Amino acid sequence: MGERDERRKGTGDFESKGAILIIDDDRNHARGSADVLESVGYSCDVATGGREGLEMLQRRQYDLVLTDLVMGDVDGMEILRRAQEINPFVAVIVFTGHGTIENAVEALKKGAVDYLVKPLDIDGLRIRVQKALERQELVKINRDLERRLDRRFGFGGIIGNSESMRKMIDLCQQIAETDVAVLISGENGTGKELIARAIHENSLRKKRPLVPLNCAALSPQLVESELFGHEKGAFTGATFQKKGRFEYADNGTLFLDEVGDIPLETQVKLLRVLEGGEITRVGSNEPIKVNVRIISATNRSIEKLIEEGRFREDLYYRLKVVPIHLAPLRERRQDIPLLVDHFIKDFSRIYKKAITGIEREALNVLTSYSWPGNVRELKHAIENMVVVSRGNSLTLDNLPESIYRSERKPSPDFNSLAGISLKEVEKILIRNTLSQTGGNRQEAAKILGIGERTLYRKLKTYQLS
Ligand SMILES: Nc1ncnc2c1ncn2[C@@H]1O[C@H](COP(=O)(O)OP(=O)(O)OP(=O)(O)O)[C@@H](O)[C@H]1O
Ligand SMILES: [Mg+2]
Repeated sequence: MGERDERRKGTGDFESKGAILIIDDDRNHARGSADVLESVGYSCDVATGGREGLEMLQRRQYDLVLTDLVMGDVDGMEILRRAQEINPFVAVIVFTGHGTIENAVEALKKGAVDYLVKPLDIDGLRIRVQKALERQELVKINRDLERRLDRRFGFGGIIGNSESMRKMIDLCQQIAETDVAVLISGENGTGKELIARAIHENSLRKKRPLVPLNCAALSPQLVESELFGHEKGAFTGATFQKKGRFEYADNGTLFLDEVGDIPLETQVKLLRVLEGGEITRVGSNEPIKVNVRIISATNRSIEKLIEEGRFREDLYYRLKVVPIHLAPLRERRQDIPLLVDHFIKDFSRIYKKAITGIEREALNVLTSYSWPGNVRELKHAIENMVVVSRGNSLTLDNLPESIYRSERKPSPDFNSLAGISLKEVEKILIRNTLSQTGGNRQEAAKILGIGERTLYRKLKTYQLS
C-alpha cells in the first residue's frame, strides 16, 4: 500500500465531498477509478478483493461503496449486504462485466443504487457517483425530518414532558435503529409495552412483526415450546408440529413480557439461543438460524430474583444491554395534565362526545392522587369520566368515587362542625393537630400558623396537655 493510501486509511475526518471505498480484484482498475474520483474532491480507499473490502468497511464509515460483482474471495453481493448492515445510509454501486447484467439487476433489487458496466468511462463514473451521493443525502435529510417530526408529535404515541420521560424518549430514539437488547422495568401500567412497541416501530425491523410472549401466563413446559416451537409427538399433547415465537419473530422483534417469570431451565436455553443465534424446536435436533431482536419487560426486581437464585445473572446482562426504567406516575406528576388532555380527546372521539377539557378543581384532584395503577388507571378514570359526563367539560362530579374519596379523606368534615362555638372548634383543631404531630408543639404551631408562645397559652386556656 502506498504512502498516500496509508494516510487516507481510517481517517475520513478531513474535508472531502464524501468517503468512497472501491473494491476490485483488479488493482489497476480500482486505482484508476480512485484517481478520477479524488481529482474531483472525494476521499477514496482501495481494497483489492472482497475480504480486504469487508475489513475496511468495519474500520471506516463510507458514504459510498463501489464494488465489482465478481471477485475471487468474497463476491459483490456479500459486500452489498454487509455494507448495508453496517450503515443503512450507504450508497452501493456495483460494476459488472458485459456478460453479467442479470447479476447487476439482482444487486439493484437488493438495494444497490446503480450499476456501471466495465470498462468504466471516466465522465460516466463521476456523474453516477455524484448522483448516487446526492440521492443518498436526500434520503438522510428525509429521515432526519421524519425523526424531528416524530419528536415534535411524540415518539410512538408516548405522552410525557417530565424530565424522566424526555430522557427516556431520547434514549429510545438513539437505540431504536440498533439491534441491542432492551430491558424495560417499571410498575404495572407505566407503559412498558407501549415503549417496546415504539422502539420496534422506529427500528429497521418495523416491516417485520413484533411478536409478544407473556412469560408469566404459561407453565414451564409451555414457555419452552412457545419460545422455540416443537415437533409433532415431542411431548403428550404435541399433536402437531408448531413454530415457536422466535421463528415468527425472525428479522423482527421478540417481546418477552414478565421476563422474570421464565423458569430457570428455560433461562439456560434462552441464553444459549441469544449467544448462538440458533434455536432448536422441542423434540428436534435440527438447529434453525434466527435473527431476532429481544426487548423484555418486567415489573419485578430481577436483581432480587438473582439474589434468590431464581434468575441467571448471565442472562440478565444479555437482556439489559440497554436498561430503561419507567418511573411511577406519582413521581412524574407533571405528565398528568398532558395525559389527561390526551385521553379526554381520545375518549370523547370514541364515545362521540364534545368534551374539550376539565375543570381546574377536578384536575387538581387527579394530579394529587397517588395512582397505584399508574397510567392505565388514569386512562380508565378518564374513560369513566367521559362516559358519565353531560357537559363539555369534565367536573368534580364526574370523578370516580374511589379517587374522589381518597382525595377528601385528609380534609375535615366542616359540615359536622356547624353548630359549635369558635372556641370549641379551636380546641378540637389544636388537639387534632397535636395528635397528628405526635405531641410536637413546635411543629403543631407551624401548621396552625401561630407562634409557639400563643400555642402554650391556648393549651393552658383549654386545659390541654
Ligand atoms: N406515556 C404514555 N402515553 C400514553 N399512553 C400511555 C403512556 N403510558 C402508558 N400508556 C397507556 O396506558 C396503558 C398501560 O400501558 P402498558 O400496557 O404499556 O403498561 P405496562 O407497563 O406494560 O403494564 P403491565 O405491567 O400491567 O403489563 C396502555 O393503554 C398505554 O397505551
Ligand atoms: Mg405490559
